[in-house]
Parts: sequence; C-alpha cells; structure tokens
Amino acid sequence: MGHKIEDIIRMRYSCRSYREEPLSKNDRLNLSEFVSQKNKGPFGSSARFTLFAAEASDSKELKGLGTYGFIKNPAAFVSGVVKESAMNPEDYGYSMERIILHATEMGLGSCWIGGSFKRSSFKEKAGIASDEVIPAVAAIGYIAEKRTVTDRVLRTSARSRKRRDDDEIFFSSSINKMNMNFTEGYGRALEMVRLAPSAANVQPWRVVKEDENNIFHFFLERSASYTKIMKLLRYKDLQRIDMGIAMCHFECTAIESGLKGLWKKESPVEVNTPTGWEYIITWDGE
Ligand SMILES: Cc1cc2nc3c(=O)[nH]c(=O)nc-3n(C[C@H](O)[C@H](O)[C@H](O)COP(=O)(O)O)c2cc1C
Repeated sequence: MGHKIEDIIRMRYSCRSYREEPLSKNDRLNLSEFVSQKNKGPFGSSARFTLFAAEASDSKELKGLGTYGFIKNPAAFVSGVVKESAMNPEDYGYSMERIILHATEMGLGSCWIGGSFKRSSFKEKAGIASDEVIPAVAAIGYIAEKRTVTDRVLRTSARSRKRRDDDEIFFSSSINKMNMNFTEGYGRALEMVRLAPSAANVQPWRVVKEDENNIFHFFLERSASYTKIMKLLRYKDLQRIDMGIAMCHFECTAIESGLKGLWKKESPVEVNTPTGWEYIITWDGE
C-alpha cells in the first residue's frame, strides 16, 4: 500500500482473464470492508455496495451471476445498488471507481461491466427495492498470466489503453487548445482523467478551463449515434457513469497534490461550447 494515485491509475486496465483462484481470506476481508464503507458521490447520492466472492469450494456460486462469457474466472464481483435519482449514474461511477482503484492498489485485476451481465441475477442477490437500480458491476480477481483469445480481441476492438490526445478533450474557454503542463498540478489531474476507463473506450469527457483561474467545467459529448447493440447495453447511462469515473480521477489526483476545490453545479455562461456538449459539473479550485 501507499502507492501514489497516479501509479495506481496507470497500473489499472480492464482485466478479462483471471486465475482460477478464489480471493484469499485477507483480500476478501480487506475488499469487503472497503466496499461497505459509507460513500457519497459529488451529487449527494450513496450506493450500497456488496462484494460477491466465491469461497474456495464454491465457484458455482458466481456462475449464476453470469457475464455472458466475456470475463474468464472472475473470483468476485462488486455490485452496488442506488436509488433512482437525477445524477445517480455519475455518483455511482465516482464511488465504484474508488473501489476499483483500491482493488488495483491491492494488486488485483478488475473490469467494469456495464452491459454484459445478468441484471436479474444481481438484483436477486442484492435484494433490491422497486425504486433502486444496479447501474453496472465490476469483476475482480487475480490477473492470469495468459490472456484468452476473447480478452485479446476485446482489448484490440475496444482500442483499450488507447486514449484521445489532450487537445481533443481539454480546452481553453474559447474552445482552443488548453494551455497546460499535463505533468503537474491540475494538468496532472487532467492527465489522470485522460487515462480513465470508459464504456467502449469512447472517452466522452470534455473539460474547459477558465483562462485566469482554476475553474474547470466538465461536459459530456455523447456518441453521435447509437447502434442497436449500444441501446441494448443502455449505453446512454453508461456514458454518465464514465463522467463520474473521470470526476473521481480528477478529484483524487488534485487532493493528493494538495489542491483545494469543490464540485459545483454552475453552468458557465461565457463558454460557447460546440453543439451536443452536455454540461455536467464544475470544479471550482483555489
Ligand atoms: C461504465 C463502463 C462499462 C464497461 N462495460 C464493459 C463491459 O460490459 N464489458 C467489457 O468487457 N468491458 C467493459 N468496460 C471496459 C472498457 O471497455 C475499458 O475500460 C476501455 O476499453 C478502456 O480500456 P482499459 O480499461 O483497459 O484502460 C466498461 C467500462 C466502463 C467504464
């Protein structure tokens, strides 16, 4: 433990092949304690997270939770339940990503799963109320040395690890290139946003910095079109989860660098953003 947030963020990737090995007792206790801690996203909603980990003799227990074959031998799943509310996907992304980063720091592999899981089985296991939802889950386990073919194909087709350049996602208030050193201070926090995972690796976050101060406006640029399969995967909501993940990376990095600030909903009046950008939130930094 004790890794810097940047190291942890750089270490994480979507792992889809795990060793056929249950979590050790220590890891199980550590992780289940972490997931059951009180959490609150920047928009005020909390999620109730549960760790579903197979016991040594009982890997069948997880089989029922099925992920349609994309994930090989997951030792555990983390699943969370939230009450339906306007900004719960963002809050959920933010809180679940903290868990993913904690698991990464423990040396575990992980993968966000937004579409290809059996919602009904998770709902049954989690005991969900009628006004609650499970926006996404995460697979967790010990990283296998050898990747399966599906893992390799998925990683290539989702262009995993490839990211947009900073000038495609970070802008000045006139929507030109943001003038920033991306290796320190807020620049480093933005670089950690750039490296964040996102559904289908679309990287829908756009950040505009006010020129004279540390005010950063976060926007969502939704995919131009949704294919049938994307609709089936409830892709629209997944992009809002992506936003919450980005906020988690930004805030954790800023705070670790000693930068103080607050999330505020304060739609910027002077910024003339391209059509299709949806305003989400502002970081108001000192
Ligand atoms: C909200 C969300 C949902 C995701 N859903 C899935 C999924 O259902 N199946 C899958 O194999 N990967 C899924 N991913 C993983 C992304 O494909 C992956 O994060 C992206 O391709 C970037 O690769 P990296 O995580 O290895 O950096 C999801 C990621 C996010 C953030």
